Amino acid sequence: MRRKLAAGNWKMNGSLSAMAEVQALCEAHPEPKVDMLLCPPATLIWPMASMRGEHPLAVGAQDCHPEDKGAHTGDIAAPMLREAGATAVIVGHSERRADHGESSETVRAKAEAAHRAGLLAVVCVGETLEEREAGRALEVVGEQLAASLPPGSTGETVVVAYEPVWAIGTGKVAGTEEIGEMHGFLREALRKSHPEAADAIRLLYGGSVKGSNAAEIFAVPDVDGALVGGASLTAEQFSPIVTALE
Ligand code: G3P
Repeated sequence: MRRKLAAGNWKMNGSLSAMAEVQALCEAHPEPKVDMLLCPPATLIWPMASMRGEHPLAVGAQDCHPEDKGAHTGDIAAPMLREAGATAVIVGHSERRADHGESSETVRAKAEAAHRAGLLAVVCVGETLEEREAGRALEVVGEQLAASLPPGSTGETVVVAYEPVWAIGTGKVAGTEEIGEMHGFLREALRKSHPEAADAIRLLYGGSVKGSNAAEIFAVPDVDGALVGGASLTAEQFSPIVTALE
């Protein structure tokens, strides 16, 4: 009942020349059986949305400001992203939580701003290696989820991405048991906090997902897709991940 989602986060990578990758990806999946989303840097949202044309590939941003407009130099508001062609936005990525000191409360305000603008919020949660080794992974992620997810969230307004910080860009993938435990835990937490939406909210795994490990990860219960970093930058690497999900 939950439609699978293959999402890519380009982070601070890509340029206009990379639109050729978007074209190749769309050509490789003319009628995808799963949802596809690419989140490039904000400057590439409009070019990417133009390049995909009628293809159902969704284009998303990597962050938004919690307010809809105002004196916030350098920030971008959710309605502006929407106008540029985005239909989704990642909020609370661990790199933003670490680099910009974003709290879960800020992440929730951003998710609410996304909702007001009609953008799907991809809300990220995940523990550090230190927290996992201290046996606190479930507790930390549970707290992040509770504080980051707006009340009233539905399967239409949010997607949750579990990205263990120690697995991001390291080539170190969480084991299928660890992923299964966390995703089962997140589903249960949603049943308590958002009982009506719990079965509709998609849970993505993120952290060193590649064509070679995607099928194994997607076979884990409660994994509804992936949020992919490095391997989303080229059609050659992202296409097998989309195929594994189909
Ligand atoms: O948001 C995606 C991400 O943090 C995972 O990155 O490069 O490990 O796939 P990567």
